[in-house]
Amino acid sequence: MIKVRVPATSANVGPGFDCLGLALNLYNTFSFEEIEGGLIIEGCESEFANEDNLIYTSMKECFKRLGYDIKGIKIGIEDNIPVSRGLGSSASCIVGGIMGANEMAGGVLSKEEMLKLATEKEGHPDNVVPALLGGMTVAIADKGVYYSRINVRKGLKFHTIIPEFKLSTETSRGALPKEIPYKDGVFNIGRISLLISALTNGEFDLLKVACEDRLHQNYRGKLIEGFHVIKEKCEELGSLGVFLSGAGPTIMAVTEADNEKFHLEIQKVLDGFNNRWWVKSLDIDFEGAKIL
Ligand code: HSE
Repeated sequence: MIKVRVPATSANVGPGFDCLGLALNLYNTFSFEEIEGGLIIEGCESEFANEDNLIYTSMKECFKRLGYDIKGIKIGIEDNIPVSRGLGSSASCIVGGIMGANEMAGGVLSKEEMLKLATEKEGHPDNVVPALLGGMTVAIADKGVYYSRINVRKGLKFHTIIPEFKLSTETSRGALPKEIPYKDGVFNIGRISLLISALTNGEFDLLKVACEDRLHQNYRGKLIEGFHVIKEKCEELGSLGVFLSGAGPTIMAVTEADNEKFHLEIQKVLDGFNNRWWVKSLDIDFEGAKIL
């Protein structure tokens, strides 16, 4: 049996729409076994245990690429990454499926080839690149996938503030405009550059302004009840930067690693809301997807 563990990811990281992302120490684990025929999927709701399952379709594309014939597959899922919350659960299925299939076929594909396949499947690289490689990355997809690791200075904690309600990436992307004003493009370019430099140099006091964005968060914020209030509360409670995780609805608040009060204090505020929100305080994962 082959087991693959894949980290959760938080894409965009404020201004870095469709290019920045970081891996977090929260994991889905998938197991794969070749069987005599058919498809068995265990560990997910029955509506997802079929041939449309994203893990399975990702495996099939990998097998097709490798020209590898398989009789049947049994897939086991242990999922800890909440679904449709902006924490890369789809990317984990894609990366897990491709890595599992590649391993079954003898480990022929390089990480670069798996990245290309995963990016084609997801449509943008900002979740799949950190999911596969770990750490924080900047990535763009063109003829290939071009990426670079951002060496974030130690000393930060990433608090994911997760609502009970879901928001699909499709709906969230549907809220975006077709065009943006030139000045909004300039606004974001400056902030992405500032963010990467500040994280690399450990200039964490710059994060508040560096996490601002005009390409997606204001449009998507309207779909997320409580977004602006929670963002303000996080700032009042001392977070260094606050942004929407991926396409939302999870909100990410970054604090100093030794801020021990933030988690409890923000949870106390959230407990007074109509919708249930819970806080998971996480660190960057540096390993990325791996065969266990
Ligand atoms: N960059 C993507 C988005 C991440 O914001 O739509 C979600 O998959």
